[in-house]
Amino acid sequence: MVASVLKIKGISKSFGVHKVLHDIDLEIAKGEVHALIGENGAGKSTLMKIIGGIHRPDTGSIEVDGESVAFSNPQAAMAKGISLVHQELSLVPNLSIAQNVFSQREPTNWLGFVKWDELHKRTRELMERLGVDIDPATMVAELSVGIRQLVEIAKALSMDAKILVLDEPTSALSEKEVETLYRIVDDLKAAGVSIIFISHKLPEVFRISDRISVLRDGRMIGTVKAEDTDTDEIIHMMVGRSIEEMYPPRASSVGETVLSVEGLSRGDELSDLSFELKKGEILGFAGLVGSGRTETARAIFGADPVDAGTITLHGRTVKFKSALDAINHGVCYLTEDRKDLGLFLTKNVRTNIVSSSLKKFASQLGLLQHSGIEDTAKYYVQHVKLRPADDKPLVMNLSGGNQQKALLAKWLCADPQVLIVDEPTRGVDVGAKTEIHSHLRQLANSGVGVIVISSELPEILGLCDRVAVFNEGRITAVLDGEGTTQEDVMKYATM
Ligand SMILES: Nc1ncnc2c1ncn2[C@@H]1O[C@H](COP(=O)(O)OP(=O)(O)OP(=O)(O)O)[C@@H](O)[C@H]1O
Ligand SMILES: [Mg+2]
Repeated sequence: MVASVLKIKGISKSFGVHKVLHDIDLEIAKGEVHALIGENGAGKSTLMKIIGGIHRPDTGSIEVDGESVAFSNPQAAMAKGISLVHQELSLVPNLSIAQNVFSQREPTNWLGFVKWDELHKRTRELMERLGVDIDPATMVAELSVGIRQLVEIAKALSMDAKILVLDEPTSALSEKEVETLYRIVDDLKAAGVSIIFISHKLPEVFRISDRISVLRDGRMIGTVKAEDTDTDEIIHMMVGRSIEEMYPPRASSVGETVLSVEGLSRGDELSDLSFELKKGEILGFAGLVGSGRTETARAIFGADPVDAGTITLHGRTVKFKSALDAINHGVCYLTEDRKDLGLFLTKNVRTNIVSSSLKKFASQLGLLQHSGIEDTAKYYVQHVKLRPADDKPLVMNLSGGNQQKALLAKWLCADPQVLIVDEPTRGVDVGAKTEIHSHLRQLANSGVGVIVISSELPEILGLCDRVAVFNEGRITAVLDGEGTTQEDVMKYATM
């Protein structure tokens, strides 16, 4: 057995009365890729934040290379060679890529001035290693979520860590970017770096890890060698029972057109895009990251301006002035970035769930009916199976997957006629994923037109009635969900 670079013993952690980690032991060998998996809220990110010096454990010890350590801040963890890529992106939007990557560590000359040429050169090299050719002076605010995730990874790579923690690093990446990341993980491993890899995508867990540790409800269930186990056993360890990944039956019939988009164009991002969405159907948007799927959703929702095109809702031309205007017309958009147009992190679950539906709760005098709000929020908490099943926690204290469920609850509560969901199951565990699929199908069956944007082709093909394939700002094909293969979609996505 190779020596352990990291030894965790008896770690426990509570937040208030809520004990989220119970007596955790975990050893990471030098140069291994160690997957850490478990359901939403199992405690994965919390454990990693303890290793990364963000949270302090209540009990237990940590050893790095045989030396006992107690980190009081992330810098202290970094100094021991531990670097964390967070699940929730934490970049500063109005700084450049380079400023974010080398934040607080910019190369300076003897007068203390930043050496911009060097800063940009080193950032460019890191981004190129990740397969991205981009100007390091670009503001992070202008980047897609996928590229932001890569910037975050570049930042961790720049620290030359000996233990690299990747908390769901691939959730917003395209397939090509994911492949590049796997290659980098292989290279780092060959160079003796240990990697802790958190993911809900079991195929990738098996693709890259040597060993897999499973957390359930804050307890360590066990560690197994990837080559000695399989998906069924792992799911069983995660949830204590078997789960079959099943998609709900497709629409048996669809109604009239609810939304039609014609000739949507903007710069070179969107060119002459047209499609129709029917009542009761789930229409998929497939395509590579940057192919125009999210841009189209944002344009419809009124989040970004367009150069040309008409949007028709129930036969009437509409042009939403703002997101609120769109919501008032029954058009809702669940964003791929939970923080951006999505959740109020510092507010509680209840406030978030009703935040786009306050009109529903106003009495004739315009006063809010608080009892109605409470009942409704509680209903949706149960409905999407939020953990903990409570409408009072602050959203920022929910686990990543539960934030995603809270976001879905918010839009279900808004009674949409058209719901566009962008990566709806991002960071969501296998069980909850099946539940979200069934919520979306129920919504469609009740007469709503649903658009699903997803980078996971099996999800698109399993869930959707029709699939619009995007390619460089155009729709190159609209295919039947049934009977279409991933290869068919890829052909139109890359031709
Ligand atoms: N700062 C905090 N304050 C209070 N509770 C918290 C805090 N951070 C996490 N929790 C709670 O701790 C539990 C574990 O959360 P954690 O984020 O570690 O889960 P996770 O395994 O990473 O889940 P996911 O797969 O959804 O990311 C959850 O119940 C969460 O609500
Ligand atoms: Mg997490």
